[in-house]
Amino acid sequence: MLAEIDTLQKNAIEAINAASDLKDLEDLRVRFLGRKSRIRQLLSLVGTTPPAERPALGQATGTCRKAIEASLKARQITLQEAADHGASFDLSLPGRRPRLGKSHPLSQIADELTEILQEMGFTVADGPEVEDEYHNFDALNTPSDHPARDIHDTFYLTDGRLLRTHTSTVQIRYMENNAPPLRIIAPGRCYRRDTVDATHHYAFHQIEGLYVDEKVSLADLKGTLETLARRLLGNDTRVRLRPHFFPFTEPSIEYDFSSSLKNTGWLEIGGAGMVDPAVFEAVGYDPERYSGFAFGFGIDRIAIIRYGIDDIRLFLENDLRFIHQF
Ligand code: PHE
Repeated sequence: MLAEIDTLQKNAIEAINAASDLKDLEDLRVRFLGRKSRIRQLLSLVGTTPPAERPALGQATGTCRKAIEASLKARQITLQEAADHGASFDLSLPGRRPRLGKSHPLSQIADELTEILQEMGFTVADGPEVEDEYHNFDALNTPSDHPARDIHDTFYLTDGRLLRTHTSTVQIRYMENNAPPLRIIAPGRCYRRDTVDATHHYAFHQIEGLYVDEKVSLADLKGTLETLARRLLGNDTRVRLRPHFFPFTEPSIEYDFSSSLKNTGWLEIGGAGMVDPAVFEAVGYDPERYSGFAFGFGIDRIAIIRYGIDDIRLFLENDLRFIHQF
């Protein structure tokens, strides 16, 4: 009888380990431990066996029952986990490849501009996109009746602050905290209330440049812009300066690039000029001693030329099919 118990235990455990789902397992539990199971019969026989054999039989049956219970439990945990993970977990399936990101075309241009300007000795400065009127207008010699402050151009927040309309704010923030001489650039996003279409957007991107020292001249500005143009769009790119007006520069210019390689004709890139003495006074610099130039550079415009993009809305949609092309 002891040999039978041994075989019973072995068969039961084998069957349990082969059970393929929880329903199978339940059938096996009934078969091996249920009321009509052989183990139950054996247990009830223990009382009627001769006293000499009783302990050995009792012990063997008990051990057998415990072993079957333990293997039922273990198999149940395994099958439950498999069910939770979706029953068809196949280790041999290929993994999911993580999608590689791509730098946005505007970031690529900004990085390239930054690198060129860093070679010329400029360091990168930064400022907030939510600004106050002082840094966006007043300190830049733009009085409160100036048309640039018009509600039609500027996004105002309910607390009186605004979304910066240009990166020139960083000029002020940097000069407030640093003494001349200095050479900085500030890439970043700006906002103006423009109706969105293929060539206009309420958000656009600039790189601000500011160079302050003794005896900085317009020729330094021109040389810097020409170097930028050639490095970005090729050696035969031409630069044209046109007289203009900005409250914070005197004289002021707008500048255009013409790239024969891309057959662009003259394209307006940004505004620039010699820092107005009123701006130096606002930040506590001595305008008799220091001079400087500043420029604002349209990153979006370079990206349009470089990549032949005809709808600037694409820049801000973040459609991966667009971004992966560059
Ligand atoms: N901030 C001006 C603009 O956004 C550009 C500019 C920058 C002009 C620096 C002069 C000096 O139009």
